[in-house]
Amino acid sequence: MSETNLPVNEKFIFNKQDSSGEKLHEEREKSIKNPQDYWAEKAEAIDWFKKWDKVLDDSNEPFYKWFAGGILNISHNTLDRHITTQRKNKLAYIWEGEMGEIKTYTYYQLYREVNKLSKIFKNYGLKKGDRVAVYLPVIPELPITLLATARIGGIHTVIFSGFSAEALADRINDCGAKVLVTADGSFRRGKIVQIKKNADRALEKTPTIEKVIVVKRTCQEIDMKEGRDVWYTDALVAAGGNAYVPPEPMQATDPLFILYTSGTTGKPKGVQHGIGGYSVWAHWTLKWGFNPVDEDIWWCTADIGWITGHTYNVYAPLSLGITSLLFEGTPDFPAKDRWWEMIERHGVTILYTTPTAVRMFMKFGEEWINKHDISTLRILGTVGEPINPEAWKWYFKVIGKEKMPIIDTWWQTETGGFMIAPLAGIDLVPLKPGSATYPLPSIQAEVYDDKGQPVTAGNKGFLVIKSPWPGMLQTLWKDPERFKQTYFGRWENLYYTGDYAVKDKDGYFWLLGRADEVLKVAGHRLGTVEIESALVSHPSVSEAAVMGKEDAVKGEVPVAFIVLRSGFEPSDELRTQLIKHVRTTIGPIATPDEVIIVNKLPKTRSGKIVRRILRAILVSAEIGDMSTLEDASAVDEIKTIYAEIKKKSPK
Ligand code: WT7
Repeated sequence: MSETNLPVNEKFIFNKQDSSGEKLHEEREKSIKNPQDYWAEKAEAIDWFKKWDKVLDDSNEPFYKWFAGGILNISHNTLDRHITTQRKNKLAYIWEGEMGEIKTYTYYQLYREVNKLSKIFKNYGLKKGDRVAVYLPVIPELPITLLATARIGGIHTVIFSGFSAEALADRINDCGAKVLVTADGSFRRGKIVQIKKNADRALEKTPTIEKVIVVKRTCQEIDMKEGRDVWYTDALVAAGGNAYVPPEPMQATDPLFILYTSGTTGKPKGVQHGIGGYSVWAHWTLKWGFNPVDEDIWWCTADIGWITGHTYNVYAPLSLGITSLLFEGTPDFPAKDRWWEMIERHGVTILYTTPTAVRMFMKFGEEWINKHDISTLRILGTVGEPINPEAWKWYFKVIGKEKMPIIDTWWQTETGGFMIAPLAGIDLVPLKPGSATYPLPSIQAEVYDDKGQPVTAGNKGFLVIKSPWPGMLQTLWKDPERFKQTYFGRWENLYYTGDYAVKDKDGYFWLLGRADEVLKVAGHRLGTVEIESALVSHPSVSEAAVMGKEDAVKGEVPVAFIVLRSGFEPSDELRTQLIKHVRTTIGPIATPDEVIIVNKLPKTRSGKIVRRILRAILVSAEIGDMSTLEDASAVDEIKTIYAEIKKKSPK
């Protein structure tokens, strides 16, 4: 793709004068010329029990050490340091449950709750470096658990509550967690989801878990295992109402959390973030991107089970001392105006969400929005997947009333925070619909061809980052080799993002999606290999090839081509069974949109599946070169089968 396909000349200007970006480029230059001094100055924005010896220790590339020798605790920076100021009684969180119940926490109340849970953790014998697994819906106990874990020097790993028992067990076992915090159930569209049952199934094969703390959310009858399971409220009573646990002095280079994400193999990657660099990066990226002020009500709609929720629902807003809205539910329950009603109810000023949500609201229609006064909004953002120019413009016009910027933030679980985004907090450059504009200070982004050479402006290539930044992952949990290989293996000392991008003639970046076997389904990251492994674990499946197919709302959806084992016949029941099997093995987010049963997959003579051909069939494109195929007749057969399916249920 070249820049002629992108609206590179369309510009939207927000600040009164058409900014040339001079201030932004100056800041970027300063940060790149002398990163040590630059980050030493920025790191003063948070409290340190002891200052660092070195801002960046790069003696063991690519295992960079940020703020080496520094001592701090992120729970102190998000709580203790505010309660000695006038922020003490300011709201940290407004939480709204799916059923409409509202709970608020001031910074002081949050501090008290975090201390109580820290005390419980201490009573259970949890020590610095111990892992705490978290399997909770978006309820206040979720951020409380993260902060309490950080306070005692533990390492949290959150498993999205929509993941299956199997996914939960794998992650708990990979990191060897000692404690699991979960709930008796969760709500989804008015129905109860049995997450404790999932947890119990997982716990049958997680030998490291000693204690399970269960939050009461749905109040249904559940099994509690004697000696292992304890109700959160009972544990709190035992901890005492006035518990205080001093924040553990932590090395800046100690790990803060592990978050599992999908890669190109079947095994999820345990992305490990360290305390010091991540704290500083979280704080500054939110400040630079959205410039939130004391009066703001910040709403990042992400679930805390993903990195977006970790950084922008917990650590960054609390470090800046602002008020965040947390929401447990879905955008269309009980009706399609739930979000706009909530914006009106709480006076939300900043909305940060996904392109999938924007496209969904486009589909719902403007009447749902027009029922509400959303005039408190002053700035909008998106994240998670490429935003198509049409959706960008709709968001800008219908939600933003053509008065506010769209902050399109490109980043990844691995990067800790925003990497490429317009920066309302430094210098807002004219925006182009569909471009995330320029990299943040310190970020040296470039677009390379497959030989590792920079492409010329306007051409598509692989996005790479040429130097370290404070928010970068430290390593993959207990797998430094995979870390090196995945991110620094393609080109030495260059961080490989796995994304396609174009840099246009003005230096603006256009992020064009994954260049590897990773899908972004409604902004959720899924490995095709993971879904394939789930499918072949079913007794009827001998081979599977999964790929993404464009979807008007979700961006892309997984589609599976499968070959059955002998003795099994294709049928609608079997297809439904296989779809269900993927849901229970991974979780509902991985649900294949279609399962296409074929007799043979197109393969090279060496046995490699030629996905390019399957993709072409899905979109009815030219198949192209078939000379490397071992048996070209497979292609015609798949084409016929697919055409028949389309005839039966045209989409
Ligand atoms: C992948 C990372 C970033 C937090 C949420 C997702 C895609 C992310 C954008 C954007 C185009 C984007 C990339 C990236 N992505 N933001 N603004 N424009 N693509 O984190 O699950 O680790 O996924 O999401 O493909 O590599 P993640």
